[in-house]
Amino acid sequence: MTVITCIDDLKRIHRRRTPRMFYDYCESGSWTEQTFRENTSDFDQIRLRQRVAVDMSGRSTASQMIGQDVAMPVALAPVGLTGMQHADGEIKAARAAEKFGVPFTLSTMSINSIEDVAKATRAPFWFQLYTMKDQGFVSSLIQRARDAKCSALVITLDLQILGQRHRDLKNGLSAPPKMTLSTMADLATKWRWGIEMLSAKRRHFGNIVGHVKGVSDAANLGAWTAEQFDPTLDWDKIARIKDEWGGKVILKGIMEPEDAKLALQVGADAIVVSNHGGRQLDGALSSIRALPAILDAVGDQTEVHIDSGIRSGQDVLKAMAMGAKGTYIGRAFVYGLGAMGQQGVTKALEVIHKELDVSMALCGRRRIDELGREILKIPADFEGRWAD
Ligand code: GLV
Repeated sequence: MTVITCIDDLKRIHRRRTPRMFYDYCESGSWTEQTFRENTSDFDQIRLRQRVAVDMSGRSTASQMIGQDVAMPVALAPVGLTGMQHADGEIKAARAAEKFGVPFTLSTMSINSIEDVAKATRAPFWFQLYTMKDQGFVSSLIQRARDAKCSALVITLDLQILGQRHRDLKNGLSAPPKMTLSTMADLATKWRWGIEMLSAKRRHFGNIVGHVKGVSDAANLGAWTAEQFDPTLDWDKIARIKDEWGGKVILKGIMEPEDAKLALQVGADAIVVSNHGGRQLDGALSSIRALPAILDAVGDQTEVHIDSGIRSGQDVLKAMAMGAKGTYIGRAFVYGLGAMGQQGVTKALEVIHKELDVSMALCGRRRIDELGREILKIPADFEGRWAD
């Protein structure tokens, strides 16, 4: 039995156990993957300042995100097709998050439905909304999220059209997978995945299939987004959706201070600095590089969260010390899920928690609210007033 000590261990097992098309879906960015790569390599450029002889007893990673208590400031990001990485993947990830005490965000493009996750958990989860041309369908998703007692609506703003990911096209990504010769050859080596998938609650997009009429190909993410997603989304529409929802709203996909200010105007409870894990605009700044200027523009007026590139507790520490009020992991929890189901998601959270706790202590800090940029060495070319 492999001893798992870091997120990379989970990633290796995920790769071995999960059909290639789903592993590739997780582990890819758009076009040249420059932004995908820099999301992680830019975290490596920030250094931590070690402090010594500081009492490190009584430490805690507890914090709050949008007023909710969290065991550490790390939410599970919305990830499409999570239930294809492992049978009942969204249910398992939500249960692991609930037990750990961190928020789980369910994607519109999930396999398990809003209702499946609500039935399997007690803690309120967050629902991520894609805006579609069919306003009636958007309203029905909002109502379903409300009925499920979701405690925040996370509206994704950066995917009105889909960035091209070469591997998804080459692999013929679909949920469930279409049985071509190469898919069958791959599945033959991933038998455990196949057996578990046979008894999965669902193998289609659970929020969509059976809820929308006249969909030509709901199995194909590219076709579905091209046909259904709303290319006319603007700030007025976002404001209308916020009113319709009536609860807490998190706006995800903000990369520029101007957009952060517009998000303030519609009354976002939080914004997420995010380039969609490098899966949309290839050539965009890494999100950690974009963070300082956004904090500079709006940091006191709303909560600024960040995703894209976080693979360790040290990354969480760097983002929080820079001034973020919360972080999200996507790939890091999916590696755990694909490797070992619910237990793997728990393992990913444990790994990140330990890294955060110990690194925070070695920087001479005992609590999240004690973190500040003085524990960081930030490269001169990072944007914003805090570059040094
Ligand atoms: C959808 O959110 C994707 O990035 O594939």
